[in-house]
Amino acid sequence: MSKHHRFAVVTGASSGIGAVYAERMAERGYDLILIARRRDRLEDIAKRIEVKTSRTVEIVTADLADANDLLRIEALLTKREDIDVLINNAGLGALGPTSKVTADALENLIKLNILALTRLTHAVLPGFLRRNSGRIVNIASIIAVMPTPSGASYSGSKAYVLNFTRSLQMELSKTNIIAQAVLPGPVRTEFFEASGLSEAPFPDQLFMSAEELVDAALQALDQRDLICFPSLEDASFWMAFEDSRTALSRALTKSGRPATRYSGGTR
Ligand SMILES: NC(=O)c1ccc[n+]([C@@H]2O[C@H](COP(=O)([O-])OP(=O)(O)OC[C@H]3O[C@@H](n4cnc5c(N)ncnc54)[C@H](OP(=O)(O)O)[C@@H]3O)[C@@H](O)[C@H]2O)c1
Repeated sequence: MSKHHRFAVVTGASSGIGAVYAERMAERGYDLILIARRRDRLEDIAKRIEVKTSRTVEIVTADLADANDLLRIEALLTKREDIDVLINNAGLGALGPTSKVTADALENLIKLNILALTRLTHAVLPGFLRRNSGRIVNIASIIAVMPTPSGASYSGSKAYVLNFTRSLQMELSKTNIIAQAVLPGPVRTEFFEASGLSEAPFPDQLFMSAEELVDAALQALDQRDLICFPSLEDASFWMAFEDSRTALSRALTKSGRPATRYSGGTR
């Protein structure tokens, strides 16, 4: 995946997983466009990466949950012909029982985890299709396939990221454009704090570092493993899940009539 003078865009690059993606992409030879709200953090990270890798690092501050900021970033991504990689990493949890989380916090989550990811993907697609190349990495979560209480909107948003990416993969199957969904388990970052929890709802041994996570996900990308569960040792569990989904899809498309159990025993 190493190329010169091509840019990788990383959203949520001011901490955690995004900051590690930024560093790794620079090490792979990409120049960077780093996006987040906290300019001081982005500046520190950009300086460190420039010194270490001699790549160019542009920083753009934006609140991706804000409609005007999002439009500004979309316009930037649309006009740049030198972007090869989009890493849609910015995300938040707004965790807690749904009735206890404010409606504004839930809306903010949907705007960031779903709307921004979708619109930024949409913004890079025309250029990627014109050039018939490009990589889109969408950061989901294991919670996409593990709905939990105290994370209803988060789980829903990450299920969206998984399905959105899967459908994109089908749309792009005849191109050289790759879309990967990464579904991390717990990762040691500022995420749980930012999501309003004083402590993480997982035991310590389930956590990996952001470095381990990103290195695993990039190795998966190199291997064209496009639905990546970095902590899943036995991949046959995902295959069984997929087989079951395929069987359900077949059963769901057998008839348009109401099922016998919903139609007084007749069909
Ligand atoms: N940590 C985990 O256990 C875990 C597990 C599964 C999936 N994930 C996913 O991994 C991704 C990265 O999270 P992380 O663990 O690295 O957490 P993090 O350290 O809290 O990083 C989140 C990043 O998103 C940015 N961000 C938040 N709100 C934003 C907004 N409105 N506009 C622009 N940027 C915004 C933050 O930067 P600013 O505050 O500077 O804007 C920060 O750079 C998220 O999508 C998360 O859902 C995390």
